[in-house]
Amino acid sequence: MSANLRRPLIAGNWKMNLDLRQSVELARALKDGLGQAGAEVAVCVPFTSIAVVGEVLKGSPIRLGAQDLHWEKEGAYTGEVSAGQLLDAGCRYVIIGHSERRRYFHESDEVVRKKLKAALAAGLWPIVCVGETLEERERQQTFNVLKRQVEALAGLAPAELSSLVIAYEPVWAIGTGKTATPEQAQEAHLFIRNAVAGHYGKDFAQALRLLYGGSVKAENIDSLMAQPDLDGALVGGESLKPVSFLRIIHFQAPARSGAR
Ligand code: PGA
Repeated sequence: MSANLRRPLIAGNWKMNLDLRQSVELARALKDGLGQAGAEVAVCVPFTSIAVVGEVLKGSPIRLGAQDLHWEKEGAYTGEVSAGQLLDAGCRYVIIGHSERRRYFHESDEVVRKKLKAALAAGLWPIVCVGETLEERERQQTFNVLKRQVEALAGLAPAELSSLVIAYEPVWAIGTGKTATPEQAQEAHLFIRNAVAGHYGKDFAQALRLLYGGSVKAENIDSLMAQPDLDGALVGGESLKPVSFLRIIHFQAPARSGAR
């Protein structure tokens, strides 16, 4: 599959924000304002908002997602939510291994891998986050960290992985207003694509969608999306603002002919 066939994905990560009324309002504004979008669009909402947002998004191409899951199918795991429950509630996508989960909830590469397997087994489409901290970047460890995080995804059946999306989110750029430059993002994306190719082959890696995340906004999306290995964005803060998020969805970049 050629690189041209990677349809861009713009996914919002609402994190732990918005009550039910605000969630409904935002979902409605996105649905009403979407128009004709070349990109696929998803919103990853808090567990408690999944049902109401799903109701609002009925009839819209905007897909629903969650921000985390547990790897077991069911059982005595107080406070957790399974892949099957997310699917049943209407989710298509699930974010896995976000840096906030790795950092505040001590999620290891091993946990990320278990969650990925559970999501794939249930038929959810995973968005796995990778990325280095500021300290790791300053110690020139960026590529080592990315290599290790990608390695944790190796050894699965490629056929099962066809829905996989990887988001490169340098931790130092998340919520800080400091975006990676388009060149820094491109360099990391190319590294990740090559690392994936090492595990799953070139064809698989060429078809894989790689999102950038970290202070994406209306002002920088166009230059980011002009980079050849950026296939979309995972957007935090700005996904809570309908005007900004819609502008990000309708980014202006060289056309990717033949996008699916
Ligand atoms: P941000 O968050 O856009 O607010 O930096 C991105 C993310 O954490 O996914």
